[in-house]
Amino acid sequence: RSVRAPPSKSEIITGEASNNITDYIYEKIGVNLHHQPNHPIGIIKQAIYDYFEASSPGTFSKLDDLYPVVTTTANFDEMLVPPDHVSRSPNDTYYVSSDKVLRCHTSAHQAETLRKGLNAFLVTGDVYRRDSIDATHYPVFHQMEGVRVFSETEWSASGLDATEFAARDLKATLEGLAKHLFGNVECRWLDTYFPFTEPSYELEIFFNGKWLEVLGCGVMQQTILDKNYKPGHRAWAFGLGLERLAMVLFDVPDIRLFWSGDERFLSQFKAGDLKARFKPYSKFPPCYKDMAFWTSPEFSENNLCELVRGIGGDLVEEVVLIDSFTSPKNNKTSNCYRITYRSMNRSLTDEEINALQDKVRADTAEKLKVQLR
Ligand code: PHE
Repeated sequence: RSVRAPPSKSEIITGEASNNITDYIYEKIGVNLHHQPNHPIGIIKQAIYDYFEASSPGTFSKLDDLYPVVTTTANFDEMLVPPDHVSRSPNDTYYVSSDKVLRCHTSAHQAETLRKGLNAFLVTGDVYRRDSIDATHYPVFHQMEGVRVFSETEWSASGLDATEFAARDLKATLEGLAKHLFGNVECRWLDTYFPFTEPSYELEIFFNGKWLEVLGCGVMQQTILDKNYKPGHRAWAFGLGLERLAMVLFDVPDIRLFWSGDERFLSQFKAGDLKARFKPYSKFPPCYKDMAFWTSPEFSENNLCELVRGIGGDLVEEVVLIDSFTSPKNNKTSNCYRITYRSMNRSLTDEEINALQDKVRADTAEKLKVQLR
């Protein structure tokens, strides 16, 4: 099948004042790990498709090639994200221009897909978030959104009210999915908040001795459905992170492995095989670099991580705040960050790491306007 061509660089790095997209991020667009059948992300996607096909044959439309650049209207407004919600901040979201973003969740496609008239669908795609750097966070990851709309005949036959009917169906569907992926695991439901669902829940499973959050979901806010579909219906929605599921299921210790293209990683997985467990190959030694500075009111950790990623790329394994104190003399705060550099496939030389770290220090002082110590 044909897959949409990735956007051109000038379409993404627009030069507008609000644009905060780096070359590093641009290069991830169009990679589409979820289109690779033998990649863990593609395997999980297919396993979820298989579950929905088996439990409700022919019901769910599958969309996995929707364009990742969306309007702020689609990403936030139509999903009822409040005007002051943190996710709208350029500290958290990649802005192409003041009214376009790299989608930060697949929920950005809920409203438009409802407007197409679809009443049950799964939308899979790459999503983008500015965040900290560690083994489980990467600025690009993959989500799958699921939506199912019910008509009055469906809930009235059950004797339940519409919300209760949708919530029960949602929970049964997702517990079934968790068991399909993870075997006969124990599930529990926690109440939570999303702007676009009410009530909202988080599903946790007990796996390898721990409770793990696997997805967010809820009964769709009625105004979203009334506006974009038609009145007199009720719906549920969920959103899940494919990397998170794949890391848990396949024992993948570092999210960068998905992007490494390393045969020693890829050769361990095969379409349809949910039983594979990642066998680590020898790791190369890490190199730690500490950097301390007097912080400023504008300083943000996400900006630092973005800067470090822009210089060190996937050689950066982790950025952590290891010390912070406020001087009683001048009331200034000093932060010390430890950057871990490690390649997944070779030894790094002192020279190259020193060169990267020198650039990190220089750019941190200049662009983040903090004073190095
Ligand atoms: N969009 C939410 C997220 O990214 C997940 C979600 C989707 C929650 C749909 C509820 C309903 O965290």
